[in-house]
Amino acid sequence: MKLQYSQITQTTPKPFVKWAGGKRQLLPIIEQNLPEKFDTYFEPFLGGGALLFHLLSTKENVTYSVSDLNSDLVLAYTTIRDRIDNLIQSLKNHEKNYHKNSKEYYYNIRDSTPRSEIEKTSRLLFLNRTCFNGLYRVNSSGKFNVPLGRYTNPNIVNEENLRSVSSILQSNKVSIKCRDFESVLNDAKKGDLVYFDPPYQPVSDTANFTSYTNRDFTLDDLSRLSELCHKLDEKGCKVLLSNSDSKVVSKMFSNKTWNISKINANRSINSNSKKRTGHFELLIKNY
Ligand SMILES: C[S@@+](CC[C@H](N)C(=O)[O-])C[C@H]1O[C@@H](n2cnc3c(N)ncnc32)[C@H](O)[C@@H]1O
Repeated sequence: MKLQYSQITQTTPKPFVKWAGGKRQLLPIIEQNLPEKFDTYFEPFLGGGALLFHLLSTKENVTYSVSDLNSDLVLAYTTIRDRIDNLIQSLKNHEKNYHKNSKEYYYNIRDSTPRSEIEKTSRLLFLNRTCFNGLYRVNSSGKFNVPLGRYTNPNIVNEENLRSVSSILQSNKVSIKCRDFESVLNDAKKGDLVYFDPPYQPVSDTANFTSYTNRDFTLDDLSRLSELCHKLDEKGCKVLLSNSDSKVVSKMFSNKTWNISKINANRSINSNSKKRTGHFELLIKNY
């Protein structure tokens, strides 16, 4: 049965990319830790936007200001919002060609550098659906470097969800920007909520995954973030931060302003399924 557009847009919008560190599994516990009331919701490390989409479909009377430093990702959000029909057409072409010769086609697209916004975004979504473990990772020159995944029939064109995301992002309550996290200080006001979900501090030398952009998230970035959290607190903003259960993070937020709770989190990014359980991370808040 062919769905009518009105039925399609009734689908609850969900993240359209699988993103390392995505918060979908942790939504129930994050939700329990949200303040009862807030005005504007800021999310300066947006990634796949699990919490954003959850709030968009559950909270009224909130405005949203979200951003990320990864320009390809932010372009994907704005292209889905503004040019959904062309994007779906382009994804359908990828799907058709992938089914002819998946390996050859995948590596051709991975090596390509399309110029148009539609093609750039459909390449990102196509690679995210067909690459190994469905993650986004670039090398130091910013080139996507994940090998082909082992899927028999990947869902390359998730049209219902893409249309639903497009329609909700068109609301004038949502603004999306490409920028460094620190810019949030100029915009957030008393009574606003800022949720920070930065690339995590590694808990061991082998646990480092920081390659969302061609620039790593360093200890200096973490110090900038901790200073920013203190300044936002002074401004009267509500601040919520996720991070790894690491000593350096606990130390930076040891002041009595911050309530730290340890939560159980299963890490689905580890390709070794035995290493995916028993991980804890921190939720830190000033309310
Ligand atoms: C852990 S992910 C966020 C995951 C997201 N909460 C989700 O549910 O998918 C961290 C994000 O921070 C972004 N990022 C890295 N450095 C940044 C910076 N200096 N300013 C803003 N965003 C940055 C990365 O591109 C990545 O998307």
